Amino acid sequence: QPPNFQGEGNSLLRRDYCRAKGGAPGFKVAILGAAGGIGQPLGLLMKMNPLVSVLHLYDVVNTPGVTADISHMDTGAVVRGFLGPSQLESALTGIDLVIIPAGVPRKPGMTRDDLFNINAGIVKTLSEGIAKCCPNAIVNLISNPVNSTVAVAAEVFKKAGTYDPKRLFGVTMLDVVRANTFVAEVLGLDPREVDVPVVGGHAGVTILPLLSQVKPPSSFTVEEIEYLTTRIQDGGTEVVQAKGGGGSATLSMAYSAVKFADACLRGLRGDAGVVECAFVASEVTELPFFSTKVRLGRTGAEEIYQLGPLNEYERIGLEKAKKELAESIQKGISFIRK
Ligand code: NAI
Repeated sequence: QPPNFQGEGNSLLRRDYCRAKGGAPGFKVAILGAAGGIGQPLGLLMKMNPLVSVLHLYDVVNTPGVTADISHMDTGAVVRGFLGPSQLESALTGIDLVIIPAGVPRKPGMTRDDLFNINAGIVKTLSEGIAKCCPNAIVNLISNPVNSTVAVAAEVFKKAGTYDPKRLFGVTMLDVVRANTFVAEVLGLDPREVDVPVVGGHAGVTILPLLSQVKPPSSFTVEEIEYLTTRIQDGGTEVVQAKGGGGSATLSMAYSAVKFADACLRGLRGDAGVVECAFVASEVTELPFFSTKVRLGRTGAEEIYQLGPLNEYERIGLEKAKKELAESIQKGISFIRK
């Protein structure tokens, strides 16, 4: 047995992967890019999630070590590692939720768009695997630029005849998490009490926090609105610069990815009232994809909420966001159609 197949085939073990697969309640989750800066803490946190019965960790490097390490945690999920393209199909077969943080991160001076060529190719390959092995899985796409990679995945699924717009999500949760934190600091509240809708997309001006809709209802000065909007939009760059060439947000991203994945799993389980922001196929604007609040259920995105009333500042922001988003989405579509 390869060392990353935890315990499978060992007759001394009364509980092995095969039994857990059939017996344990919960969902089967795969992380693609599991050995990376986001992937490792994401694997750790998903291993702690009681809704997960089986956790597949796939990467092109280092999964045996990460899998051995995480598999020693005494939580319920059974962990199994997969290394390299020849094991991608095994990693994906039977999976309910696929989380994708595979790809290169930004260095100082780079925009998310600078990552496009490498990451779009990676997302294409992984999406082809999903279309073949788990076409009904919910997909949480983290690889940047999210504004383009979601369109890449959608085009791959359309080509394969498996596209279900309700099941494909670009993960923008980190923008919401940052917005909640920064707004709570300004208001002097506990971030857990604050809910800031962040709409649009996941890059620069496409990240549009709706401060007029903050809960609990709050008013902000013009200076506060400027400060908060800029800080939320540039939150990723703040981390990239602080890491000085060491990559982009990984720990707060892993936390955010788990927050969103957990919401997807609660939706799949049939919980009522699970609502989060995500970048999805949408008719809220004229664009094919847009991030707004979404109600998650057994079939994925079951309801997509409208933007609600915007103030003048937000209406101007929305126009800027849509202009950039249209180009980014088109870039993703062209990558597959060309
Ligand atoms: P990283 O470089 O530390 O890890 C990426 C992992 O992907 C590596 O382990 C690498 O081996 C793996 N990988 C590369 N090609 C692969 C392939 N074909 N199949 C499977 N795995 C492959 O990067 P990090 O920091 O974990 O970031 C990952 C991605 O997440 C980047 O694109 C980054 O821009 C994005 N990101 C997205 C955020 C969001 O809010 N949506 C926030 C922060 C980062």
